[in-house]
Amino acid sequence: MECLNKPHVHVRDREHVERILAKMVADGPNKLQVVADFDRTLTKFTHRGQVCATCHNVLEEGGLPEEYKEEAYKLRDKYFVIEVDPNMTIEEKTPYMVEWWTKAHELLMKYPLSKAMLHNMVANSSARLRDGCIRFFDSLHSNDIPLLIFSAGVGDVIQEVIAQQSTLYDNMHIVSNFIDFDENGTLIGFKSDIIHVYNKNENAVHDSDYFPNLSHRTNLLLMGDSLGDLQMANGAESLEAKLTIGFLNTRVTESLALYISKYDIVICEDETMDIVNNIVSNILASV
Ligand code: TMP
Ligand code: MG
Repeated sequence: MECLNKPHVHVRDREHVERILAKMVADGPNKLQVVADFDRTLTKFTHRGQVCATCHNVLEEGGLPEEYKEEAYKLRDKYFVIEVDPNMTIEEKTPYMVEWWTKAHELLMKYPLSKAMLHNMVANSSARLRDGCIRFFDSLHSNDIPLLIFSAGVGDVIQEVIAQQSTLYDNMHIVSNFIDFDENGTLIGFKSDIIHVYNKNENAVHDSDYFPNLSHRTNLLLMGDSLGDLQMANGAESLEAKLTIGFLNTRVTESLALYISKYDIVICEDETMDIVNNIVSNILASV
């Protein structure tokens, strides 16, 4: 595939990737399932030079008192550098991530966030689906290909971002931190155990029927921007082919070798879905 020859696209083992892609193309859409992370994978890292909001940042950017924003930004400044530090192992980072999510969610519970505020918070936010994401969603939907969005962000924000900037289709299944609202629509906590960037291997989706129900879909495309995202499809056991695509958005020079050693394809500092759309359209072309 021509698109894999671009200078910002790195392929670890070309022969392996070509073999996997040839199988996916030959098997076509009926055998395919897709698993994607949300923040900085389906959404952009930057847009017109500005860093874009993650799900949590959407809540920080508007609607709640200034002191909430200040406290949340302090947490982000402390922990984001740890999340993306190429010199720390996942085991070393994990306790800090648990701390970050716990503190962020406890902080949020001190403020009156209501369900009704979410629409405008998302509309006024800097969260942006990648260019080409609408086409990506549309083609998976029109070919009945299941898409699992597995995110350490906030599920309610994800639904709102997709509904506002594209279409929330019934082939999409979102596993994330969903807000627990009381009967008045005010946040009282989160519905299940914390999903952070490095525990996507131990989440309930892996004990659910999700992957077993898709066991006839033996080819899986996985997309993420964090090394923790590689664990998202651990529950899929009957796979014949798996292709992993990593978006490397920041600290490219120091992290590239590590990303190439983990992901089949690494796409650097690219705010579009072009490479993925190209791969998907090749698989769909076999219909
Ligand atoms: P993801 O799994 O959809 O990529 O979402 C996780 C991202 O959320 C991760 O990159 C860190 C980010 N994050 C914030 O920006 N602010 C926060 O308060 C928390 C807890 C996470
Ligand atoms: Mg992410």
